[in-house]
Amino acid sequence: MTTKLSASSAWQSLKAEAANVGQLNIAQLLASETGRLDRMMLKLDGALFDFSKNLVSEKTLRALFALAQQQDVAGWFARMMQGEIINHTEGRAVMHTALRDPNAPQEVRDCLAKMERMANAVRADKSITDVVHIGIGGSDLGPRMVCKALNGLHEGPRMHFVANVDPDDLDPVLMGLDPAKTVITVASKTFTTHETMLNLKAARMWLKGRDERVIAMTSNVKAAAEMGITEDRILPMWDWVGGRYSVCSSVGLPIAIGCGFDVFKQFLDGCNAADRHVRETPYERNIPVTMALLSVWYRSFLGMGSLALVPYSQRLSHLSDYMQQLGMESNGKRVDRDGQVVDYATAPVLFGQVGTNSQHAFFQMLHQGPDTIPVDFIGAKTPHGCPERHKVLIANMFAQSRALMLGRDGTPERVCPGNRPSTTILLPAINAYNLGLLLAVYEHKTAAEGFLWNLNSFDQFGVELGKQLAKELLAPPEVLAQNESLDFSTSKLNFHFYQPE
Ligand code: F6P
Repeated sequence: MTTKLSASSAWQSLKAEAANVGQLNIAQLLASETGRLDRMMLKLDGALFDFSKNLVSEKTLRALFALAQQQDVAGWFARMMQGEIINHTEGRAVMHTALRDPNAPQEVRDCLAKMERMANAVRADKSITDVVHIGIGGSDLGPRMVCKALNGLHEGPRMHFVANVDPDDLDPVLMGLDPAKTVITVASKTFTTHETMLNLKAARMWLKGRDERVIAMTSNVKAAAEMGITEDRILPMWDWVGGRYSVCSSVGLPIAIGCGFDVFKQFLDGCNAADRHVRETPYERNIPVTMALLSVWYRSFLGMGSLALVPYSQRLSHLSDYMQQLGMESNGKRVDRDGQVVDYATAPVLFGQVGTNSQHAFFQMLHQGPDTIPVDFIGAKTPHGCPERHKVLIANMFAQSRALMLGRDGTPERVCPGNRPSTTILLPAINAYNLGLLLAVYEHKTAAEGFLWNLNSFDQFGVELGKQLAKELLAPPEVLAQNESLDFSTSKLNFHFYQPE
């Protein structure tokens, strides 16, 4: 029988390390540990990942790397990239890295070529001014995030994103547009997601029969075809790409339309740089593996329940939404790969907001709340606009990580305890390549966390139950009123909802 993770030697050494964490002081470690900056400031293609303000000594790091070794993180990455069925609960391979591999399988290259043709055709048609993208979860967050980040940097039609089934999402968008000048793109891996299907139906009615203006991205080509979308307007997806790992698949079409296919290609190249890095770099210099190890350290050994993600860039205002799905849908799990309930904490709650806005919202709690919440700060060296304001922005970012680390003495209400950890990521600039690199680094961090925690990071059975129950509640009110299997609370809520005001 294999040893339980929590009883394993690497895990036990880290428990011993954690028992002594009270003796660790980040500022002192920075001043006293020789070579700390060299060990903990890692670079990838000009992007700097500064881990030096984390609550780990060199000894802790060695114990963490031993955990990576024990859990065979490199072996798992190799198996993932070779197409082994590592998503065993769904019987699927996990091959999102193939989507940006220059030696990608033929089907991927064919899909990219079709994307290029379609994107070019939409961009060349000067009668088209707007594109509305419909999709939810992984079929929305990636392209929405990237299009927002690159907004205005490249010429193209105006891009709009609609995810929610709430009519207040789609309706105001369509109200401002002309159906004769608009293209609808719809992404749904399954082509069954209720919200997306209803929004698509509403958008098609609004198009008034202009079906040639609809482009679908899906792995359920049959369902899309049955809805009357012809094959030339359908882009494939594959079951070996998970929804939250799908921004490099055909789901990325809005990026190619909004910014140009060459820009989308730069995005893929950035992702590929991170893929090569994670595959080829020893643990000690491996950025995603280091991020995952720190996450496991904070969550499973030091009991820190959250992670704040704070980009100091308005362009990255959708980044924390994207990372929330990536981290929490992947590793918000309570059983391991063998189906055993784990006896350690897994994914932290991820939340975030851009700086400096977040300084005036939740930073009070980060500095003085009773919980220690690690922070990922993300900024860019090069501004897109006024250098003076950009300098203020970045000075604030650096000041926050320093304040979290140093703390402050004073009267009780002024004391900031300090010694609070953070990582700072400084990109050369916000552009497609660096965005791809950043997203893929976080994808690999998430996968590495799963390998370390012995989880399957690639299924999401937890979201099924609520979807099923919602369907039941769509029965007519008189049927619901008779449904004796409904609990009293939900029954009363329904009654109240259907009562005229
Ligand atoms: O809510 C769960 C989920 O399956 C996500 O994993 C996925 O990204 C999203 O729904 C959308 O699914 P689809 O692309 O099939 O519409």
